[in-house]
Amino acid sequence: MKNRLIIFSVVFLAFAIAHPGGPSLYAQDKNSPPPAVFANDLLNLTFAQDMIEQGKSIFRFDTFGDEAFWGDQLQLHKAIAGAANGGVGPGVSPNTALAVGLKVDVDALPADLRNSIKAGAVNLDDPATTLALLKLDAVVGIKGFFDEKGSMTSVGITCAICHSTVDNSFAPGIGKRLDGWANRDLNVGKIISLAPNKAPLEQELNVDEATLLTVLNSWGPGKFDALLNKDGKAFRPDGKTAAVLIPPAFGLAGVNLHMWTGFGSVPYWNAYVAVTEMHGLGTFFDERLNDPAKYPLAVRNGTWNVRNTPDLVTSKLPALHLYQLALPAPKPPTGSFDEAAAARGKALFTGKATCARCHVPTLYTDPGHNIHKADEICIDSFQADRSPDLGYRTSPLKGLWTHTKGGFYHDGRFATLLDVVNHYDSCFSLGLNDQEKNDLVEYLKSL
Ligand code: HEC
Ligand code: HEC
Repeated sequence: MKNRLIIFSVVFLAFAIAHPGGPSLYAQDKNSPPPAVFANDLLNLTFAQDMIEQGKSIFRFDTFGDEAFWGDQLQLHKAIAGAANGGVGPGVSPNTALAVGLKVDVDALPADLRNSIKAGAVNLDDPATTLALLKLDAVVGIKGFFDEKGSMTSVGITCAICHSTVDNSFAPGIGKRLDGWANRDLNVGKIISLAPNKAPLEQELNVDEATLLTVLNSWGPGKFDALLNKDGKAFRPDGKTAAVLIPPAFGLAGVNLHMWTGFGSVPYWNAYVAVTEMHGLGTFFDERLNDPAKYPLAVRNGTWNVRNTPDLVTSKLPALHLYQLALPAPKPPTGSFDEAAAARGKALFTGKATCARCHVPTLYTDPGHNIHKADEICIDSFQADRSPDLGYRTSPLKGLWTHTKGGFYHDGRFATLLDVVNHYDSCFSLGLNDQEKNDLVEYLKSL
């Protein structure tokens, strides 16, 4: 007995030395807080919290210096201000801004302004009001720059323009920020087409103004084409736009590859979009795009290997990454789906309908290399072929209910979740009856 105890003590001691903090973890009650050693040494929560706060502010407000493009070069600020306020043309009133899908952050409005808007005492058809909102940093994803006289001198965009919306709690398009939600109302092409000087874009895409306008007008709300200035493909073989839907930027922790076609990780896309799409000043490198046959514009413009000094992007990637991973997919509102049907749908999802082969709960994408060939999901390979991996990334399905507008799949080809289920029913020859299809849809709405 005594020997056994000595052996046990030695083993325990050896384990404790090899795993400092370890044994106490195993001994712990599941519900008790983690041992202090984790909080202080291995996981510095203050550090993580600070980084998430920084990431939030970068996501919402950082232009990465892209005002040098949108303002200084394209002169977009002049189109926003309008001739009456030192710019050109009619200007962009708040009502026009809301009509192209821009959103207003109610928390940035002082109480007296909120009251005046409620009382109808603020002219929402006057571009001067837009300038006042921009000075308050109230237009989500748009940052105005002003001189000391109050004239607008430039304008930049932030991640939030495409990946935030508001809860409409004050008025349609005006409310509290919802970071990470895809803005499916935003007409990116229409906004860009307002630029008084489109020459830099024509040069980048190697097209004339008429072609540029045709392309920008073809996108429509909720869509953007981040590959256009790499491969020059504006339209699919069927003549429809090659632009894709803006996806949500929440619920991504644990997901390996990102973008509809799985180009890379979250920080990959963040560098890609900040430097080569938003035209921020930073560094971006991807040798795979140095392929003149597949990505002629990336090679011509050198956008597979961009080096800017100063670099206003790279140092922000860690905090920006952590912030996105920390954004949970929002839960569906109570009463928004039929719970009994959803429970039956869950069993179908993992069983007869075989969805969980790829959308593995609770991640809802494939843990590992989450890419599939077009024919596995019975669609064309046009968009997949534009990516280095030639595939489609299994969409993580959480929070589907937040982006029903614009449809589903990368291009919104399925208007409703029932259309998606019908597609799989025929693609996989599932033989689902109407009730089963409805149950699956209710389950998808519950995620
Ligand atoms: C002009 C609109 C626009 C802007 C600005 C923009 N994005 Fe995106 N974002 C998109 C589109 C469109 C995609 C999908 C691209 C694709 O698959 O080709 C995307 C993809 C993503 C994804 C991948 C989501 C997933 O499920 O894989 C994340 C994360 C993301 N964006 C975050 C950001 C961050 C952070 C910024 C700022 C640095 C940003 N985006 C700027 C439109 C935008
Ligand atoms: C072979 C792997 C695979 C299987 C099995 C599969 N999916 Fe998918 N799913 C994908 C891929 C890949 C995409 C992305 C398609 C695209 O980008 O156009 C996707 C997209 C979706 C979307 C659209 C998400 C969005 O944001 O638009 C829904 C909804 C969906 N799947 C539900 C299901 C359901 C329900 C089943 C079972 C009936 C299922 N999937 C089975 C791979 C799969």
